[in-house]
Amino acid sequence: MEFEKNILCIGAGYVGGPTMAMIARQCPQYKVTIVDINPERIAQWNSNDLPIYEPGLDELVKATRNRNLFFSTDVERGIRENDIIFVSVNTPTKTFGTGAGMAADLQYWEKTARQILQNSTSPKIVIEKSTLPVRTAQAMERILNTSRNGVRFDVLSNPEFLAEGTAVNDLKDPDRVLIGSRETEDGLKARDTLVEIFANWVPREKIITSNIWSSELSKLVSNAFLAQRVSSINAISALCEKTEADVTEVARAVGADSRIGSRFLNASIGFGGSCFKKDILNLVYLCRHYGLNDVADYWESVIKINNYQQERFVRNMLAAMFNTLAGKRICLFGFAFKANTGDTRESPAIYVTRRLLEEHAEVVITDPKALNNARIDLANVQGKVLFVDDPYEAAMGCHAIAVMTEWPLYADLDYERLYRDAEKPAFIFDGRNILDSRRCFEVGFNVFPIGKPALTHF
Ligand code: UDX
Ligand code: ADP
Repeated sequence: MEFEKNILCIGAGYVGGPTMAMIARQCPQYKVTIVDINPERIAQWNSNDLPIYEPGLDELVKATRNRNLFFSTDVERGIRENDIIFVSVNTPTKTFGTGAGMAADLQYWEKTARQILQNSTSPKIVIEKSTLPVRTAQAMERILNTSRNGVRFDVLSNPEFLAEGTAVNDLKDPDRVLIGSRETEDGLKARDTLVEIFANWVPREKIITSNIWSSELSKLVSNAFLAQRVSSINAISALCEKTEADVTEVARAVGADSRIGSRFLNASIGFGGSCFKKDILNLVYLCRHYGLNDVADYWESVIKINNYQQERFVRNMLAAMFNTLAGKRICLFGFAFKANTGDTRESPAIYVTRRLLEEHAEVVITDPKALNNARIDLANVQGKVLFVDDPYEAAMGCHAIAVMTEWPLYADLDYERLYRDAEKPAFIFDGRNILDSRRCFEVGFNVFPIGKPALTHF
């Protein structure tokens, strides 16, 4: 069958996989190929056990795979056979050299750019999908424009705003699609090609176009604003705990102002995920690079509050449990950085586990989707960690339960049974405010929610 367009995506991760599956689903007239250097990942995408858990993704992939969606390890062939190339490889925070712990590590990106250059004999539109520091497109263009055989490359920025756990809906019905391009004749032509792809299912008014630098920056700023909201409410949760105010009530009253809005105001143990911290660090690095130290300090404080909130959670546990956790067994309900994903990247649960082990506690971890990743994250920690599928079994004989992830299943458990099987006095630290505190208190637990008065029996 002849396809109208041939589209490639390099990098089959949390962004590349779902995004391309959605394009394939919405545009049966296009052939979409996803390549990755990791053969295991590709084998998983080609199996019934996809490498990532995302509600609705299995159906999406099943409906399209081997019809107009293909997964392969042959990156070079992919480049040769496709003229529209999304790049969605990982861009982690640099761990070495200049900018270590701050700047983005662009080695995978640059490798990909060179690979595109080496394997291209026809004009290509190269689309940045990974979150990148501002002006990466320029670096990309510089590499591509060293082409000796006169091949033309147009670089576009098309940041992805999907959130994990809701990726399929976010892709199907996005708030907006952003496309940044050079404002030259060729740049605008390339931009129109991409607009045409999304216009297959996204209303035109939701497709925003901008210059390429605005597009790159908007992604960093969107994530920084979202993270800032979480840090703002988390900062207030500390004050609520001192003043007997209830952070949920405060958030409701504050969020009712339509200028502020009610979403993303849930106090928690802190934000995690692969994007927020990385993108803010990127923003901070960029500001410092341009000598904007006050601006950098402002955004850096969002991360400081996030670290503070995680440490505060552990300290609250310590204080409530008579200043010693040594030898005590603590069960973590959830390990993923949020509900409806198995992803644990930057999950606050990692920090909390490490700190509890430092206090010589024993940690039992349960999570419906993230235990495999939890095992990898904690592979080299010293101390006693157990991984248990069943939450009742995990909590058996524990001195405390700490809710790390807002999986709805934890709110629906039988807390009477959990209390019966717990060491006494029994504690619950609800790091997500999802439990019915009063009910847990009434069955016997001492309950410590975030940003609300504790309910204790002593
Ligand atoms: C985020 C952005 O939302 C998305 O647009 C971007 O493309 C990638 O980064 P993601 O990291 O998948 O998405 O999840 P998100 O829902 O934003 O949550 C991030 C973290 O903030 C999670 O740990 C979550 O639990 C926490 N959070 C979120 C809160 O603690 N409170 C809230 O009210 C909202
Ligand atoms: P994200 O959450 O941004 O999608 P992931 O880390 O989940 O990031 O996915 C990035 C993917 O990119 C990984 O599967 C990795 O193997 C792949 N990758 C990295 N470098 C290359 C490359 N040069 N060619 C092809 N794939 C690559």
